[in-house]
Amino acid sequence: MTQAPVNVTVTGAAGQIGYALLFRIASGQLLGPDTPVKLRLLEIPQAVKAAEGTAMELEDGAFPLLSGIDIFDDPKQAFEGANVALLVGARPRAKGMERGDLLEANGGIFKPQGEAINAGAASDIKVLVVGNPANTNALIAQAHAPDVPADRFTAMTRLDHNRALAQLSKKLGVPVTELKKVAIWGNHSATQYPSIAHAEVSGKPATEVITDQQWLADDFIPTVAKRGAAIIEARGLSSAASAASAAIDHVYTWVNGTPEGDWTSAAVVSDGSYGVPEGLISSFPVTASNGEYKIVQGLEIDDFSRARIDASVNELAEERDAVKKLGLI
Ligand code: NAD
Ligand code: LMR
Repeated sequence: MTQAPVNVTVTGAAGQIGYALLFRIASGQLLGPDTPVKLRLLEIPQAVKAAEGTAMELEDGAFPLLSGIDIFDDPKQAFEGANVALLVGARPRAKGMERGDLLEANGGIFKPQGEAINAGAASDIKVLVVGNPANTNALIAQAHAPDVPADRFTAMTRLDHNRALAQLSKKLGVPVTELKKVAIWGNHSATQYPSIAHAEVSGKPATEVITDQQWLADDFIPTVAKRGAAIIEARGLSSAASAASAAIDHVYTWVNGTPEGDWTSAAVVSDGSYGVPEGLISSFPVTASNGEYKIVQGLEIDDFSRARIDASVNELAEERDAVKKLGLI
């Protein structure tokens, strides 16, 4: 092993996603089997002890690629030299909390983290925001990192993408590897639009294979969009291992690229494509190559898709306006 370790900062390290995520990073699944990693864990002071416990377990895994673990309760230190930052820790919605309160509480987390990334992260920093509301938290962090290229800030809709693949695979009785060009548009929320408009099933247009429009509108789309809530209902806790798995997928693809003839979904800074206002961090079909995500261009958007994309993007614009009003961006 000759490569220098890559610094990976993970916030919310003592949480349930953190617990599922850190072991997969340490095992090499985030960056590949030849890349050693150094973990920099950020927690709030009350959870540092629990993070220390997780770090002891990581040590006990004797992972050949894990070249060190440091734990911090100060974002400035945690993001120093970070090459990859996974922003998982966020303030969950408490009883009686309005959406505005949640956005404000998260502003208190993502503003200083954006500033810390701006001040000390490595020049090749890649940021994935997982903590909800992920798209708008990413927007807040990005707004406070003016020296970092805006496109280094992304939010996670890969879990929604994977959920869409899984539902289609189940419905059609084909392996997920037979499904290409599924897309998630918009916000990581119940308004998201999981689309098969350009998808392929074993090389055939998915729209020719799935002709049951009612299944698409009344089953597939709501099942994917409300899957997070269904898991909370069933588990009494939000998705954790699947969220960690999607975070691994998001960064692995960002670094290693999408396969020829396929794309994935990620919430990236809009350049105005498909009528999504410039600057919003919205989910699009994206390809990755040379360490960059790029929005897939030139897709025809039918009326069914247009209405759904617009509804989710309008919600993102409202969230942006709300955090603007709170002085968070
Ligand atoms: P959790 O409550 O188990 O863990 C969150 C951790 O973050 C806690 O240990 C907490 O101490 C820590 N934390 C809080 N504020 C922090 C700060 N300022 N700095 C560092 N750490 C901080 O929650 P979880 O189940 O791990 O979920 C984390 C977030 O991910 C939630 O917001 C959840 O809604 C979100 N999520 C997103 C997706 C997605 O697809 N984008 C999927 C699942 C969950
Ligand atoms: C998910 O999609 O599973 C989560 O974002 C749900 C949540 O609210 O934590």
